[in-house]
Amino acid sequence: MAKVRAHLGREDPGTVTARLLGDPRARPNVRWAARLLARPTRDVRAILAECASFADTDRIIRERQIEGGRSSYAQFRAPLELYTFVRILRPDHVVETGVSSGVSSAHILLALKRNKEGVLHSIDRPILQRGPELGARETPVALPPGRRSGWAVPEELRTGWDLRIGPSEELLPRLVRQLPSIGLFLHDSRHTPVHLAFELATVAPRLTPGAIVLADNTAWTGRAFPRFARQIGARIIRRGKSDLVGLRVPVPASLSGGVANPAS
Ligand SMILES: C[S@@+](CC[C@H](N)C(=O)[O-])C[C@H]1O[C@@H](n2cnc3c(N)ncnc32)[C@H](O)[C@@H]1O
Repeated sequence: MAKVRAHLGREDPGTVTARLLGDPRARPNVRWAARLLARPTRDVRAILAECASFADTDRIIRERQIEGGRSSYAQFRAPLELYTFVRILRPDHVVETGVSSGVSSAHILLALKRNKEGVLHSIDRPILQRGPELGARETPVALPPGRRSGWAVPEELRTGWDLRIGPSEELLPRLVRQLPSIGLFLHDSRHTPVHLAFELATVAPRLTPGAIVLADNTAWTGRAFPRFARQIGARIIRRGKSDLVGLRVPVPASLSGGVANPAS
């Protein structure tokens, strides 16, 4: 028993959190996060050590998922990296499309709360589950009966959350016009080449130098992400062998003390 306890004590905090969330895919990829941030891995590990402080939140998310009939939490597989990006970049505005139960949103909100600054703007056009049980041919991102977008996000994180319900085709351009800057953008909504290209083109004018842009499920979105990366002169950084990809918006040499884009 003492041996087990000693082993658990040594366990990486991100691994513990992934277990609390009920999905090993959420184990953070430290190297991926460090490369995107252009920071040493020790900086990422230092932030990941904070995971223990929100273990109760992850427990609540997991309980709500199970109550809602979802055995596996994960729609977005890198919630802890999201937390790390927000803690290190300290963005004034984060934008995400695609909320579903709100795993990604909750981890962004946790980081903003700890930063004591910054706002999350989320857009979701929910898909509704048809009956009391999720049908075999239905998507697990559908809302269980009686739930709304972000249904697993604990109440104490919701203050100040700008959650907009509707298609991003309509709501994203309007939102972007209202924002002075975007320091982090996550695409996790409609995974088609046309839609991803539209979202990237819409947010592009507001992205700050050094902002991180993420897109999940790029196996379904053709050349949209590579094209955007080429247009802005950024390098794509893939999370392991998955199709979750990211890039860091280039920082002009004049803003980076003469060293442009240390990540690339
Ligand atoms: C993969 S889930 C998002 C998962 C979420 N990021 C998480 O961490 O659990 C995709 C969500 O995008 C929504 N969606 C699909 N098409 C959309 C669109 N055109 N505009 C906004 N939301 C959309 C879906 O209904 C669903 O709620």
